[in-house]
Amino acid sequence: MHHNDQPQRCLVRGSLNIDEFFHVQHIVLPGQTISSTKFERRGGGKGANQAAAIARAGGAASLVGAVGEDGAWLVRELEGYGVSTEGISVVQEATGRAIVQLTPEGENCIGACRAARPTSQSDIERHLTATSHLLLQNEIPWASTLAYLVNAHARGLVTIFNPSPMPVDAQLHAFPWKALSWLIVNEGEAEDLLRVVGGNLQGPNIEECPANWPDDNNLRFAFGTLKKLCRCEHLSSTGIVCTLGAAGVLASICDQRELIYLPAAVLQGNVRDTTGAGDCFTGYFVAGLMQFGNKCLPKDEVVELLRVSVQAAGMCVEKNGAMKSIPGRVAVEARLS
Ligand code: ADP
Ligand code: NA
Repeated sequence: MHHNDQPQRCLVRGSLNIDEFFHVQHIVLPGQTISSTKFERRGGGKGANQAAAIARAGGAASLVGAVGEDGAWLVRELEGYGVSTEGISVVQEATGRAIVQLTPEGENCIGACRAARPTSQSDIERHLTATSHLLLQNEIPWASTLAYLVNAHARGLVTIFNPSPMPVDAQLHAFPWKALSWLIVNEGEAEDLLRVVGGNLQGPNIEECPANWPDDNNLRFAFGTLKKLCRCEHLSSTGIVCTLGAAGVLASICDQRELIYLPAAVLQGNVRDTTGAGDCFTGYFVAGLMQFGNKCLPKDEVVELLRVSVQAAGMCVEKNGAMKSIPGRVAVEARLS
């Protein structure tokens, strides 16, 4: 399966979070105090979820980030998934938190500030040693994200960025796009990005899809958006993967004019919890890339990686929770065969 002799390891520089879920009859109103019918605490943060997904997919993943002393169990949980956690420091502040109110109709969420790890050049160099891939999201200080990206690119690593939540316009304008090998976005993020970096490519994005694709207006819109995105000068050397929720995924790869489309996986069972599906997809896709070192992938190989990633993300939707609903590779391959 491995096409490359060099040891492959992905460094994930990102967030670790404790997500606290309060099951309530309705979202609490100003001045009100209500009791919840159920309480759950789960590990989260995009950095942690995506590192866990790479490990579940069979790739070597190291997570660099920070927790407070209240986050020791989360570090152990990540080790249980096979993530290397030597790069996680325990700092004075509390671990980052998300407080979620779950009602029968929906939910709301308050994100709290995170334990941050200061970044020094010697840390970066140590972390990037014996590393082939770097995966970033946008839940840690922006300066750290940029520093890791620029250093990784200078060392010839494959770099992957999932800009979630979306950086502000000024950050996107100044972003070192040429240092980026792969961009992973959802539909909304693709639109936001095009609006900021698209320059003169504005206007209605709807485009006719190839005849053998599903007849779906959302797909035509995403298709038009992605076609314009990959014509942006900034992104001319970056592969772009755009997830479309229940509609599947679109991708554009370097040196190819045609976009790739794959429908979502056919789901089993009754549970539909999309929490963490995007992170599961990203982790599986990156673990797939790691089989190819830093070569430019041919289209057939990208299609195969996407097929596995879409199946894994679909299985994540079939189970409640984020990190703990990420399937292992054996189960994913069994469903594909
Ligand atoms: P994000 O949560 O980052 O916005 P998406 O909602 O696009 O990401 O979901 C990521 C991937 O998860 C999709 O490309 C798809 O493969 C899978 N997925 C998400 N929702 C569903 C669903 N309802 N049914 C099947 N697959 C899904
Ligand atoms: Na889930």
